[in-house]
Amino acid sequence: MKQTTLRYRALRRVRSLPAETASRLLGMPAISRKLNKAYEKARAAHRPRLPKLSPLDMEIVAGLEKNGVYITSLEKLALPGTDALWTSATDIANAYALRAKKGEFAGEYTVQVGAEDMMRHPHIVRWPLDDRILNIVETYLGLPAGYDTLNFFYTLADGRQVAARRWHRDVEDRRMVKVIVYLHDVDMDTGPLEVLHRSFPGSDTLDGANFPVLTQEMLEERLGTTLDSGDVTTCTGRAGTVIFADVASHYHRGRPAIARDRCALFYNFFSHAPLRPFFCERHLFSREQLSEFAKGQTARARDCMLWHANVPLLARMVPCARF
Ligand SMILES: [Fe+2]
Repeated sequence: MKQTTLRYRALRRVRSLPAETASRLLGMPAISRKLNKAYEKARAAHRPRLPKLSPLDMEIVAGLEKNGVYITSLEKLALPGTDALWTSATDIANAYALRAKKGEFAGEYTVQVGAEDMMRHPHIVRWPLDDRILNIVETYLGLPAGYDTLNFFYTLADGRQVAARRWHRDVEDRRMVKVIVYLHDVDMDTGPLEVLHRSFPGSDTLDGANFPVLTQEMLEERLGTTLDSGDVTTCTGRAGTVIFADVASHYHRGRPAIARDRCALFYNFFSHAPLRPFFCERHLFSREQLSEFAKGQTARARDCMLWHANVPLLARMVPCARF
């Protein structure tokens, strides 16, 4: 078992080498200066075309700008298709809870609902392809959005500080928006998302191809102090809570769950031509399945879903570092 894990880790490392090399190249001063200039130019050119938002939606964007996070609920958002989303997603969550109870996921810390299951419920995948969500994301990014579908995670309450439960920044793009829907009540002990509001030496620097990934203890060591409640937004909330978070520009983690398992939907957005496309597509769908989801949608939703077509050829040739 241990040997299989080691072999898997080694294979994953080899597979992610091209993406890491490409990321280092993009980080070289001459290249990154040029890319930053083009990015600012694209944002400035898009500014007159930004959508008009309602007061609630403007508040969400303001929250993202100020703290990198805004907490609301399915009820307050009142988007079309919410009832169908809720029924299907909670049914799946209950089925996974039953399987967890039977010990099927023993040894795992997080389980992801598979693509085949999701194909039977395409409305879960399509739910955020609504003009209001796309407008919020577009306004915050300052560019048209790309939608990288979702991760439907079942998190086991084992208290382990591993993977996304360590403090980290996502690296797919400069700015990103995750729209997270809790399917269970989430308190301090049930794995809430936490967003950090402080910087520390190294928090803005790629360590190789990535930002340093830190345990709570390592983070406090870098800060030189223990974390204060004002330093972090801990996103607790009832089932049906919706969180908008910029996981690219802010350090964040899933606080390790210790009391009860929790299930949540993590919808992923970045700009229509993300900076590091080879770190994107961390979902379980094939390109053919993505085309299925895009069928029958508005032109705008289709463009969001099929963002990969905007990636420059050279970047497209770098194989994806899937996890
Ligand atoms: Fe993350």
